[in-house]
Amino acid sequence: MPETIRYYFTRPDETPPDVLDQICDLVAKSDGVGTSWMRENLDKAFLIGYAIHEDRVVGTSTHKFPKEKYVKKIGTETGLDLSGFLERGYTAVDPAFRNRGIGLKVIQGLIERSKGKKIYVTIDTNNPWPLRMAQRVGMVLAGRFINDRTGHELGVFTNVTPPLNSQNEIIP
Ligand SMILES: CC(C)(COP(=O)(O)OP(=O)(O)OC[C@H]1O[C@@H](n2cnc3c(N)ncnc32)[C@H](O)[C@@H]1OP(=O)(O)O)[C@@H](O)C(=O)NCCC(=O)NCCS
Repeated sequence: MPETIRYYFTRPDETPPDVLDQICDLVAKSDGVGTSWMRENLDKAFLIGYAIHEDRVVGTSTHKFPKEKYVKKIGTETGLDLSGFLERGYTAVDPAFRNRGIGLKVIQGLIERSKGKKIYVTIDTNNPWPLRMAQRVGMVLAGRFINDRTGHELGVFTNVTPPLNSQNEIIP
């Protein structure tokens, strides 16, 4: 790969504002990623990963604190208790730089720097590349539900087996 790509993994307060702007642009331009409250979630995230080529963000992913309302919704839909989990999201690579391993490297870098953290990611089950990346980093399918906004089926993948939420506990 001729171009030099540099990888960064920073807390929100260590991340230059113009980089956060570029991340929002890149994610907003990429299909398959929900963008509501994006800037707010990035400003409060656990860790932000991004790849830079000639001062431009060409790839990104983030370990964020999901909104409780959303965790509850997934819980109601799947029976999973994801409280205390980080959500990996806002994963996108510039189309001109795809299929070169950048996406995987950003995710691997986030995982290395999130040791001991419980993580989930929701992926459209018809979106092959993020599914492949999840498999590559050992995430396991724990549940599925239909996304109200798109009508698409989302798989919930986790790095540890989540407990069932109280409504779904198996009574011995
Ligand atoms: C998903 C996305 C971030 C992947 O980024 P990327 O840098 O192209 O991914 P990588 O190069 O690391 O490839 C990841 C895997 O997918 C495969 N892959 C990715 N794009 C591919 C393509 N166009 N053709 C064939 N294989 C492809 C790679 O071979 C790799 O699999 P491998 O490790 O078994 O070889 C990128 O496709 C994207 O931005 N998509 C739009 C937004 C999106 O869907 N985000 C995820 C929402 S959950």
